[in-house]
Amino acid sequence: MKIISNVNELKNYLKIQMKTIGFVPTMGALHDGHLSLIKQAKKECELIVVSIFVNPTQFLAGEDLEKYPSRDEADKKICKLAGVDVVFLPKKSDIYGSDEVSLKAPNIRGFVLEGATRPGHFDGVLTVVNKLFNIVNPNYAYFGKKDAQQLNLITLMVKQLFLDVKIVPIDTVRESDGLALSSRNIYMSKEQRVEALKISRSLYEASKMIQKKIYKTEKIKEVMSEILVPLKVGYIEILNRDFETIETIEIGNTIVLVEALIGNTRLLDNIWL
Ligand code: PAJ
Repeated sequence: MKIISNVNELKNYLKIQMKTIGFVPTMGALHDGHLSLIKQAKKECELIVVSIFVNPTQFLAGEDLEKYPSRDEADKKICKLAGVDVVFLPKKSDIYGSDEVSLKAPNIRGFVLEGATRPGHFDGVLTVVNKLFNIVNPNYAYFGKKDAQQLNLITLMVKQLFLDVKIVPIDTVRESDGLALSSRNIYMSKEQRVEALKISRSLYEASKMIQKKIYKTEKIKEVMSEILVPLKVGYIEILNRDFETIETIEIGNTIVLVEALIGNTRLLDNIWL
């Protein structure tokens, strides 16, 4: 497995490979969620590139950029065991200059949900993912459904900028008790982790209601917000795959999303129906 920090070195290496490239962009502190992206990439591609870069432009002032978990050595081992071919581990100065061209998230889809709570966040995500795509030039790139809005906006970016990469969505990996895996879960105390289970439980209840043919989204949101008490809920939303609010569930075209704060830890989760 190669570990490369320099952009030109990576470009030159990949240019001569003549293989199907699968790309998994991450911010490190790898867990089984990231691993399932890598595993899918291994099934579909001949050469796997994982990037580990805690992208500063997607963090707002006062967010956890400084304390975001960094575990480069453990991450490299995980990648090696998973059969990754190249780990791209750039420094900030490898990716950003001092006076930057950047992308803007679209006005509607980019400014609801996470975009409303974290204005500018998706500008940073799109800017870095576009840069990474230009460096790696992958045939396939793998993203988790857990970050549904990120996945939606990246898919839109690829379409609107006519990028030559296929985006592959991957199901959310959970702990056995339902908690969605996240690099931020380690911030929580034991007690907070128990509280956090209310998030996946609320989504589970929503899917049970839908199985019982309760399709009115207001009713479902009401039940979910009862389950989530006393968490600080950022949003409970039920949207179609184009991220438009819907009043009635459309099976095959619905995402139920929750964001809540547990202490200072912001957790996201969702289910796709
Ligand atoms: P990061 O949070 O490290 O996540 C990297 C990828 O792993 C994302 O596509 C995310 O959706 C996916 N992922 C995270 N938790 C998951 C889980 N429990 N199950 C399945 N997939 C999961 O998302 C980012 O980094 C950054 O914004 C990035 C795209 C790298 C741009 O900086």
